[in-house]
This record gives sequence, structure tokens and C-alpha cells, in this order.
Amino acid sequence: MTGIDIPKILELAPSPAYVIDLGQLRHNLAILDEVQQRSGAKILMALKAFAMWSTFPLIRETLQGVCASSPWEARLGRETFGGEVHSFAAAFKERDIVELLSISDHLVFNSFSQLEGFRPLWEQERVSIGLRVNPEHSEGQTEIYDPCARNSRLGIPRREFDGKSLAGVEGLHFHTLCEHLFEPLARTAKVFEEKFGEFLPGMKWLNLGGGHHITRDGYDINGLVDLVKYFRDKYDVEVYLEPGEAVVIGTGLLVGEVLDVVPNEIETAILDVSATCHMPDILEMPYRPEILGGYDPGVKQYTYRLGGPSCLAGDIIGDWSFEKPLTPGDRLAFLDMAHYTMVKATSFNGIQHPHLCIYEPEVGNLCVVRSFDYEDFRGRLS
Ligand SMILES: Cc1ncc(COP(=O)(O)O)c(C=O)c1O
Repeated sequence: MTGIDIPKILELAPSPAYVIDLGQLRHNLAILDEVQQRSGAKILMALKAFAMWSTFPLIRETLQGVCASSPWEARLGRETFGGEVHSFAAAFKERDIVELLSISDHLVFNSFSQLEGFRPLWEQERVSIGLRVNPEHSEGQTEIYDPCARNSRLGIPRREFDGKSLAGVEGLHFHTLCEHLFEPLARTAKVFEEKFGEFLPGMKWLNLGGGHHITRDGYDINGLVDLVKYFRDKYDVEVYLEPGEAVVIGTGLLVGEVLDVVPNEIETAILDVSATCHMPDILEMPYRPEILGGYDPGVKQYTYRLGGPSCLAGDIIGDWSFEKPLTPGDRLAFLDMAHYTMVKATSFNGIQHPHLCIYEPEVGNLCVVRSFDYEDFRGRLS
């Protein structure tokens, strides 16, 4: 995550805080814009990954709208982002459909039973209806992040299409990737076309889902442009991409502070940020984040285990070594913390929710756009 003035942010930000760097965000958006301009694809922001809506006016200058997973996300997209709202969920309630039909441009079903069951509700509406398909082609190594894993509930397999009516269905959607470069998409698209290509003629759109790390170094942009053009030209469909991570990778920090250092076989620094509350993918995925000035254990002189303030014994962020000893009050910057962090954060144990901040590198200004207090914690319960 180069290009961010992290020392300056550590100096200016309150702790704990999620901080978004607008310079990095503009960098990512420029790449996504190039993809749109050259390929004709429409790119949506996946709200499930990142929904800090004070940044949406900037993102909306480039992206075409949002993809939403629920009526609340759809409403947030309609109110704060604008453009198109595309909604999908593994299953809907009737009242979700009623609400989503009034705020969505596209509504994607995950089964023929829901498509048909809700047909009387959607058939008279202007919303474009689609089906999520499952090409049953796995590229992911981590099963919980692989919608094509065996017995997946996400997407309709090809065999389910036999004998079914596609009347009123205007598009197909697949989402099968997670943090992937272009080649896995190319392989998936080939399998998708072999299995489902026969249904595309006459359809209006194809949605290639998310999981594309388009803004990461080494992504084959030319390959993506050609693939999008191929589907647009051959089937005369609008092609959508709905990345979440790619919009904000490398843009966000989580600033934390050392509260105490307790002795054990490995000294443990207890921070005001928590793996389980603020960076849950560290435990779920699991993965090891990067820390400014933090090295693998033993590389530098002072090695610590970093843990959160919660009661969870496993609220451990990991082990790092540093050039200088850690002492209470020291600030740490966890890198790449924009996506799947604040949208998943909890206030378990009543732990202080991080402030939300925006850093504008052009003027060196940090703005706290939202702080959370006791009333926010109390208001979630009754
Ligand atoms: C249907 C759908 N679209 C888009 C996304 C966004 O994926 P990513 O943030 O990995 O790009 C997801 C993530 O799970 C998803 O399930």
C-alpha cells in the first residue's frame, strides 16, 4: 500500500479509526474507468464490501451504481449513491420483493422456485429480472469463499434449467471469484458459456459478479477488456461487473493504539482495536494483515503478539516484530482495512467502534466524518 502518507495519518487520526485515503481511491477509480471506457462494461460498487457512503459522491463519478444484498443495502444505494441498483440475495421474503421492486433496477433470483413464486409480484413491474447461475467451476482454495464448492446454495446449476421457463428473464448473473486476477475469470467464463451460453441470445444483460482484483498490480486489464467485448459483441448484451474489494483495495487503514503490554512466553500488546470486532476476516478467512513498521517474528529485535481488548481468548491479530519496544500510547497502522471491515464490525463487549475518517492527501487534511458513542451501542439493543 504505497502512496499513502501513513505517518501523517497516524499523527492526525483519533484512535481507533478507519481512515480512507482519497488519493488511493482516485487511483483505483481511474483503473476501473479505463476498463469501462475501453470495454463498454458497466461497473457497480458492491455495498457488502464497502459502504462508507461519505465517499460515494467521488466513487459515483466513475461507477454506474451499486449491487445490494438486501432491502437496506438497496435503499442505502438509492439514497446515497444513485445510478443503478442491482439486488440479489440467496433467498427473499415476500416483503423484501415488494420493497426491492420499488428501489431496484435489476432483481436477481437464486432459484426457479423464487422466480416463479414471486412472478405475480414482478411480472407487471419495470424491474429487469435475472437468474444467478452456478457454473460449478471452482477457482478458490478457501471453501467458505467459494460459491462453486460442492453442494453450494449460491447459483442455479445447469441441470436445473431443463424444462424450466425463462419467460420474463432478461439476464444471467454469476459470482464465483474471490480476490482473483484475470485468468480465473477467463477459465470461468469459458465454462459458463459452454453450459449457459445457449440461454444468452435474446437476453439483455450478463453480470460477471465480483471477486475481480482489477486494481491490483499485475491484473490483465487487456484480457478483461477483450472478454467483456466478446460477450457484448457475440450476444448483444450489456455486461456488468460488481467488484467490492477492487474499488477500495489499498485505500484504507485501521489506526490502533497500544493500551498495555503483558508478559508471557511471548509478550502481548493489548490494543484498542480487535480482530473479532474490527477486522473479523483475520479470524474468518483467516489472513495476516500488514502493519507499518511490523515484520515477521524475530526479524527485528522486539517481537510481540498483538491482541484486542475483548474477552475472546482468540482475539489475536498475530505476531510481529518491531525495531523499538512497544509501549502504551504507541500508534499502529493496519494496512488495507477498507473492505469487509467496517461493514462487518461489531461492538461486542461494548468496545469503542472506530471513528470513520477521510484523508485528502492533496491538502494533508484528515476529516472525522463519523464518531460512535454510547447511544449508538445502546440503540442497537432494547
Ligand atoms: C454476488 C456478489 N457480488 C459481488 C461481490 C463482491 O465481491 P468482491 O468484494 O470480492 O469483489 C460479492 C462478494 O461476496 C458477491 O457475493
